[in-house]
Amino acid sequence: MTDPVQGFSRFTKEEKIRWIARRYTARPEATEDLLQSYWHADPALQQLHDEFIENTLSNFYLPLGVAPNFNINGKLYAIPMAIEESSVVAAASKSAKFWGSRGGFKTQVLGTRKVGQVHFRYNGDPNTLKAFIESAMPALMQESEGLTRNMERRGGGIHAIALRDKRQELPGYYQLHCEFETRDAMGANFINSCLEQFATTLEKEARTYPGFKGEDAPLEILMSILSNYVPDCRVRATVSCPVADLGQDNGMDGETFARRMIQAVKIAEADPFRAVTHNKGIMNGIDAVVIATGNDFRAVEAGVHAYACRSGKYRSLSHADISEGEFRFWLEVPLALGTVGGLTKLHPMVRLALEILGNPTAPELMEITATAGLAQNYGALSSLVTVGIQRGHMKMHLLNILNEQGASPEEKDLLIDYFKTHTVSHSAVTERLKKLRNPG
Ligand code: MEV
Repeated sequence: MTDPVQGFSRFTKEEKIRWIARRYTARPEATEDLLQSYWHADPALQQLHDEFIENTLSNFYLPLGVAPNFNINGKLYAIPMAIEESSVVAAASKSAKFWGSRGGFKTQVLGTRKVGQVHFRYNGDPNTLKAFIESAMPALMQESEGLTRNMERRGGGIHAIALRDKRQELPGYYQLHCEFETRDAMGANFINSCLEQFATTLEKEARTYPGFKGEDAPLEILMSILSNYVPDCRVRATVSCPVADLGQDNGMDGETFARRMIQAVKIAEADPFRAVTHNKGIMNGIDAVVIATGNDFRAVEAGVHAYACRSGKYRSLSHADISEGEFRFWLEVPLALGTVGGLTKLHPMVRLALEILGNPTAPELMEITATAGLAQNYGALSSLVTVGIQRGHMKMHLLNILNEQGASPEEKDLLIDYFKTHTVSHSAVTERLKKLRNPG
């Protein structure tokens, strides 16, 4: 092993690229060319991207697609989706079209509350701590006024601060469990700033609180941070229609189809192995919108999967039933999203995605995003319980296989035509391309 590099972050971008290319790649010049070929032609725009993160070498593209014809609560949306997986956008578009002629998607925001916590240790009398927190409440609110003023003007702010005794989980462990409204902002900076101010106020107030009898540090603050688990910032998306209106799907009558869809959902409610894949399909839709709109998909992923586990067992996020002849398919997910702050103003593609969506409020974006998740789930399940997933998926994947094999535009046209009536597989495409190139 060679020595670790010193002062890498202070290298210029070109120095970083040269160093990485020489140290870790077999063809350094080709590496440098590749990285540079992904730079934006406009240097100012490239600099903007360079400054989003640290040690930037280049850009990493994701395709931006769009799924049109989404009727959500009677309004028609084209949903931008940033995703690398073939067939996701096609499946979303197909579901949008299908449900568009059956009343569309109905959504409801079930809450917009976000959470943050100050975690601390305290080994004294719990009643004294309780009395202290109550006495410190006015100072907690007052000393964070500078941070909350703007948010309050927009209708948000601190909603609740509560002491939680967590000694059952960990000796001496308590929290200030705080709830916030952050309006159209995702709110991470606002929440974390408030929490750090709460921690400072608590420490200060504790030093002079008579009940602590002059102890120097009666409570030890460990950390202050928002929670990405937001079960009370939640949205529901639903589709429904009479079973008879489901029509024929791949030769299957509506009743059989509905019964099989419900059984597929029940399996995902019962079995974690299936539930994870089922929910992954939902996240195909959700993440694609979250990324296109510049939101934090890691936060959303962590929160959504924790929610899927809330009963103690990992389960499906979507549900289905038939009631009085009506097939109903719905999804409930926690989504902490923002349409102001963060990347929303900075990233030109994010700005565009939000514009295409009609510059939604954060609750509207929650509704759109949940709808994309439901549409995706409907698309995946309706394939799975009828013809299977591979037929459609491989059709969409065909171009990837052809590109991987270096097919020319003419070869692509011929083979796309050929595979309209033949089963796509990696080997079948390779074989056919070989035959095309060497007809003898
Ligand atoms: C693939 O990305 C997603 C699916 O596996 C989802 C599912 O199985 O429900 C098709």
